[in-house]
Amino acid sequence: TKTAFDSVERTYAMIKPGTFEHVPSIISRIEESGLVIHRLKSARMSEEIAGRLYKEHDGKSFYPNLMKMITSEPMCVMELRGEGCVKRWRDLMGPTNPETAKRENPRSLRALYAKNITYNAVHGSDSSSSAERELGIVFGDDGKCPLRSTASATPF
Ligand code: TYD
Ligand code: MG
Repeated sequence: TKTAFDSVERTYAMIKPGTFEHVPSIISRIEESGLVIHRLKSARMSEEIAGRLYKEHDGKSFYPNLMKMITSEPMCVMELRGEGCVKRWRDLMGPTNPETAKRENPRSLRALYAKNITYNAVHGSDSSSSAERELGIVFGDDGKCPLRSTASATPF
């Protein structure tokens, strides 16, 4: 049965390694944009999950650096929701290459916070079908759980 949860567009977002000090500013920009952070967790990505997530880039020249970067430190992974959120989050991120981002969209997150094309601050799914695939890999479910956080309940 369909519920209100199922009809809201969702996307998969990451605040990538190397961007830790900018997490509060990035969260603020998401909130200001009207997108909803439905779930957020802080985690370090395993090689196995990273390989599945970035499968489409396997074999490309930048793939080894991409894998090294994404597994290098803990980061924030999120499910964002809202009408048109796939495109709205991509627009907020800006172009892949920060030099292009600075030229074309100086207020974008990559223009402001990317160090270089490898450490380019944020990730966003490129389509709804990619979002479903990526959310499934990272959160390991069908996304219908209405919890805002999947932080581990195990005390540390
Ligand atoms: P891609 O999916 O093309 O970009 P986006 O993140 O904007 O969807 O590539 C995935 C990541 O791979 C990208 O964020 C940074 C890295 N990358 C490079 O390091 N060099 C490159 O030339 C490209 C295209 C990507
Ligand atoms: Mg991409």
